[in-house]
Amino acid sequence: MKLKLNAPRVRRDPYPTFAHLREHDPVHRVYRPMIGVVSYLSRYDDVSNAFRDPRLANGRASVGDGKGTPKWLPSSLRPFIDSMITADGAAHRRLRALVQVAFTPRRIEALRSSVEAVIEERLDVLATNASRGRAELIEDFALPVPLRIISEMMGVREEDQRGFHTLTNRFMELADKGIPGLVMGARNTIKLISFLRRQVAEKRSRPGSDLVSALLQAEADGERLTDDEVAAMIFLLLLAGHETTVNLLGNGVLALLDHPGELAKLREDPTLIDGAVEELLRYANPVSQVSPRHARETFELHGRMIRRGEMVMPLIAAANRDPRAFERADQLDITRTPNRHLAFGLGVHYCLGAPLARMEGKLAINALLRRFPEIELRVPRGRLQWRRASLIRGLRELPLRL
Ligand code: HEM
Repeated sequence: MKLKLNAPRVRRDPYPTFAHLREHDPVHRVYRPMIGVVSYLSRYDDVSNAFRDPRLANGRASVGDGKGTPKWLPSSLRPFIDSMITADGAAHRRLRALVQVAFTPRRIEALRSSVEAVIEERLDVLATNASRGRAELIEDFALPVPLRIISEMMGVREEDQRGFHTLTNRFMELADKGIPGLVMGARNTIKLISFLRRQVAEKRSRPGSDLVSALLQAEADGERLTDDEVAAMIFLLLLAGHETTVNLLGNGVLALLDHPGELAKLREDPTLIDGAVEELLRYANPVSQVSPRHARETFELHGRMIRRGEMVMPLIAAANRDPRAFERADQLDITRTPNRHLAFGLGVHYCLGAPLARMEGKLAINALLRRFPEIELRVPRGRLQWRRASLIRGLRELPLRL
């Protein structure tokens, strides 16, 4: 079977494909032009081991065969390729340490009232649009809530926030094609570069109380970050800060509508929200796969060879539905315990923004259910469209009647 994660049928429902891979082809090797061989892992144990396997590196350069980021690549493109998420070892620790402090549960808790205020404002927009028969959860609510919060943390002006999302939306589609995608989408890439440069220049000339200004001030191991490193950090945090949580809210609400019994339980007892958000993360997989790993040495897994320098792709969404790890894995159960899902990854690259995503998810979903006692789809279920980017699993639109 050839894996076509972007085929419309698979985007609509990837889980039968994932089940097939888990059972029959747990190390699914694909040759991708200009990228090379990629091995897709789909079983829970394999995916969770991959996160902590010292034979796998996040950065291509860490393989140590001299084939890191290509030399011909213009340096302006480096912020998209060399960042915390593609760094290993000490280089990764250095970058992560600089921003970690802004994402601790305590610091995130301090943002609660700002998050609540944005949620209330967007619920008003939903209500207004609903009265005109055109409420749409993604555009009115699921996207603007996380986009506004991470943008405020980073000091991005309100008028620039939507424009950044339009660029990342395209970037995510191009990212499926690896480095060649950046070149193919040159216009989009150039706009992103100039957006990032403008953010750095503005904060350098007029520092504020935001995270970017703090980064420009910060000393890491006695060294300052270069402008490219700051640009890479802005890009990663802004992108990861909203292109993920939007899908927790969108896919999460859809999953609840698909399971009226679970929705009724949560409406009746909003204190179930902690477990509900964990289960929505597992079941609805806002992030479908992680950034590729690179084999530092040749090894065998389930009878398949993974050769030094080749890519390994852990499919979180497949692992999170593995019946070896979860009873009734394909069913939503908001009271599931234990729930050791892999939605935020594991190990040293474990999601930095998990406390923020969890807080936004809990507050937003409970507030939505409180404000609108009846929610239903405004279009037939089969007509919903999914975004074309294999890294994430997200709806283009979720039209609702409230
Ligand atoms: C529901 C929402 C989210 C999900 C499902 C999610 C998922 C993930 C996953 C699976 C990883 C691991 C990537 C890897 O191992 O290659 C990750 C890393 C990361 N996430 Fe999230 N994320 C979410 C929200 C956020 C938010 C709100 C932020 C805020 C800035 C964020 C920032 C990051 C960063 C910076 C990393 C890289 C950490 C590192 O390399 O050490 N994420 N996320």
